[in-house]
Amino acid sequence: MTATGPLGDYPHYRPRRNRQTEWSRRLVRENHLTVDDLIWPIFVQPGKTTRTPIPSLPGVDRVTIDLAVEEAQRAKELGIPVIALFPATPHELKTPQCQEAINPDNLVCQSVRAIKELKLNLGILCDVALDPYSSHGQDGLVKNGYVVNDETVEMLCQQSIVQAMAGCDIIAPSDMMDGRIGAIRKALDHDGYQHVQIMSYAAKYASAFYGPFRDAVGSSGNLGSGDKKTYQMDPANTDEALREVALDIKEGADMVMVKPGMPYLDIVQRVKETFGQPTYVYQVSGEYAMLHAAAGNGWLDLDKTMLESLMAFKRAGADGILTYFAPKAAEMLKKG
Ligand code: PBG
Repeated sequence: MTATGPLGDYPHYRPRRNRQTEWSRRLVRENHLTVDDLIWPIFVQPGKTTRTPIPSLPGVDRVTIDLAVEEAQRAKELGIPVIALFPATPHELKTPQCQEAINPDNLVCQSVRAIKELKLNLGILCDVALDPYSSHGQDGLVKNGYVVNDETVEMLCQQSIVQAMAGCDIIAPSDMMDGRIGAIRKALDHDGYQHVQIMSYAAKYASAFYGPFRDAVGSSGNLGSGDKKTYQMDPANTDEALREVALDIKEGADMVMVKPGMPYLDIVQRVKETFGQPTYVYQVSGEYAMLHAAAGNGWLDLDKTMLESLMAFKRAGADGILTYFAPKAAEMLKKG
């Protein structure tokens, strides 16, 4: 029997019967959101014991490493399985060649080491792309105005290695260069990091919803009027997303991700249905900012729209969600 039939006729069949009580709604619920679904992105900045609010991401601060360690402890207490670290690199360290990306002592590597010292048994995911380190705001190296693929991939391999050396558990390439997953897998294996997982930003779109993130890592000013359309995907495309995901799986991705989230639930569903692989979704900064802005105006209920949006990702087929709501959602789920 399929999900839709055969159905009895009204009044013999009354769908509302199953919805009349809270316990019955729980009994027939098809999808569940738990703390195990959450990945918490955290922005780190240099310095000591300082939190800097990000105006376009209300409630999210850039934190220094000592405070990132405390956030990691909080993630552990809340039961969040994984945190994702993003560096706000000082301007003077951003260059066209992005050398800071492969400095084993850069902000993100220092943060990973500091958190791993606590042996929390908490996963750490690190983004791999050059935009936090580039003076031009692009995710790769630029030659004659074009983001060059193969030279960038070489840098990304080195960036992955320094992050793995620091103790990163999941390497998450967000750059959308061709062939990077295979190259990074090979580089990691060659250097003895066979156990390090790869979550590829496999279907990542050239989206306008990343604005607040770029404010957070200080790359928006550098990018200026530039865009990322020669490597990130066209929001008009679906089949292309499946080809991107197929390639990344073939090249060795352990987990794949779709990004952004809410406007791309059709992609999440198709990716999960087509490949049946561990599939993640990024509820990006602009989505978080939208819900907050509406709630701040009294137009939406933040807690309810947050939980509804997270459940929608599960319904679409996601196995987990990167979301700035992670600590808040985890607290609410804990309370029940
Ligand atoms: C870096 C990167 C971006 C995001 C995650 N990794 C920005 C971009 O591609 O411009 C966006 C995350 C968000 O908006 O929350 N390549």
